[in-house]
Order: sequence, then C-alpha cells, then structure tokens
Amino acid sequence: MTLLDDKLAGRSAPGVAPVKPQGGAPAFFSAWDLHAYYGESYIVQGVRFDVREGEILALLGRNGAGKTSTLRTIARMDNPRLTHGEIWLDHQPLHEMKSFQAARCGVGLVPEDRRIIPGLTVQENLELSQIAEPKGWSIERIYDHFPRLAERRNQEGITMSGGEQQMLAIARVLARDIKLLLLDEPYEGLAPVIVHEIERILEGVKELGITTIIVEQNAIAALHLADRAVILDMGEVVFDGAAQEVLDNAELRQEYLAI
Ligand SMILES: Nc1ncnc2c1ncn2[C@@H]1O[C@H](COP(=O)(O)OP(=O)(O)OP(=O)(O)O)[C@@H](O)[C@H]1O
Ligand SMILES: [Mg+2]
Repeated sequence: MTLLDDKLAGRSAPGVAPVKPQGGAPAFFSAWDLHAYYGESYIVQGVRFDVREGEILALLGRNGAGKTSTLRTIARMDNPRLTHGEIWLDHQPLHEMKSFQAARCGVGLVPEDRRIIPGLTVQENLELSQIAEPKGWSIERIYDHFPRLAERRNQEGITMSGGEQQMLAIARVLARDIKLLLLDEPYEGLAPVIVHEIERILEGVKELGITTIIVEQNAIAALHLADRAVILDMGEVVFDGAAQEVLDNAELRQEYLAI
C-alpha cells in the first residue's frame, strides 16, 4: 500500500494541508509532515511539530496513539519506516540519515526498556558510552548530575533498582554529547520519590541547554516538567500548545488523555 492509496482512502487526512514554514529562523528541531509505516500498517500520519532549543516538550496521547512510533521515527530507527516528511535538528536533515548517523548528529533516545548492560558496573556502562563517542560528558560530570550513580559506581547494572537503572540509561545517553534527548516513559513503574529525583535531573539537563522530548503516561508529571505539549491521537497531532494550557483544560485532557 502506498501513501497515495492512504490519502485516497482518506486515511492520512490531517485537517489542514501541511504548509512548510517559510522565512524566519527555522526551529531548532522540526518534524514536518511525518508519515511512517510498520510494514503495511500506516501509523504516523502527518505528524508535525517544532521544538525550540532548550525546551522540554511533552508528547502525549492514549495507548496506541503513536508516541513511541514518533520517537522511533525521529531517531531514524528502521521501523517504523519513514516514507514522507522532513526532520531537522540544528540545521541537519535527520530524514536523510540512518539511526547511527542521527545519533552522531546529537539524537539520544532512551527507549522504554532502559538500555543498560546488566552485567557491567555503573562505571563500566558509562565508559562504554564514552568509547562510542569520546566528545561526550566526562564521567565525573555525569556523577555530579547523578549523585545516586556516583554512590553506586561499582555496582552491577542488574542489581540496581528500576529508578537507578532509568538514571543510568539517561546518563549513558548524556555521556554521548547530545543535542536532543528523547525519553520514552521514563517514569514507568517508579515510585513518586524517584520520579521527583528524575525530574530534578531533567531540569538540570534543561539548564545545560539540551532540548528534550518526553513521552509519558504520567501526563500530569510530564506537563509540570514541560514547557510545551503536543497531543497525538491515531497518529495525528490534535493539540500543540503550552503545557499549562493542557493542565488548565479538563475537557481536552478527558478527551485525549482520559485523565
Ligand atoms: N512493530 C510494530 N508493528 C506493527 N504495528 C505496530 C508496531 N509497533 C507499534 N505498532 C502499532 O502502532 C500503533 C502506535 O503504537 P505506539 O507504540 O507508537 O503507540 P504509543 O502511543 O507509544 O502507545 P503506548 O502508550 O501504549 O506506549 C499501535 O496501533 C500499535 O499497535
Ligand atoms: Mg509507547
């Protein structure tokens, strides 16, 4: 099935024909009219949004709305397959790249399954990331931002709590000198006290000027952290605005987030 077939069948149908922004400085990050497929399944259906440098954007929506698929598309994973659209990060065309090239251009994805190497210690996990990209943060700098990891530097990944593993997964990505941090459900399964600790870490990351897109089922927590919010529904953007607007709008939350 082609994109045209979908369009003819009315499946893409973003309400407004996409208009590419013209003139002015391009946004630091821009996803423009993304269409992506898993095999024949048309999942990302014309998603578009911008993120300013240093901003935190909450990417929200119900289960199956297409949040993870959108993050994977931005990180240029093979699946879903991008068939149309442009992705720009700091003037670099991510849509023309493979995932390893996007990573080199500063995209750091922390997937839902928290990629750490369980048999290695905290320190070894961080060192491995640094070997991959020596320009990244020094390990001492990471420990300054993640005191809990500093205390556990000789502990094996597998023996750490869920929250500590999440911190290590984020720290491993930061060890690579990134411009855009993509987080998929970083608070999943974590106690509120650990969620607060990760929130403080992410605020610190923002202070350093790193741009973040956070996908989170705990929408209220994500909205309190974020500057802006984009809500997806069935692979399309249905809201793009200030995070506070979503917090203030119970009807919108009920309709698209069921909270
Ligand atoms: N590998 C895949 N192959 C086929 N379809 C998939 C695949 N992964 C996801 N999908 C489908 O794509 C749609 C969007 O899934 P996605 O994981 O992006 O949603 P999500 O918003 O992240 O949901 P959740 O909140 O449950 O994590 C769903 O209908 C899902 O079934
Ligand atoms: Mg998901």
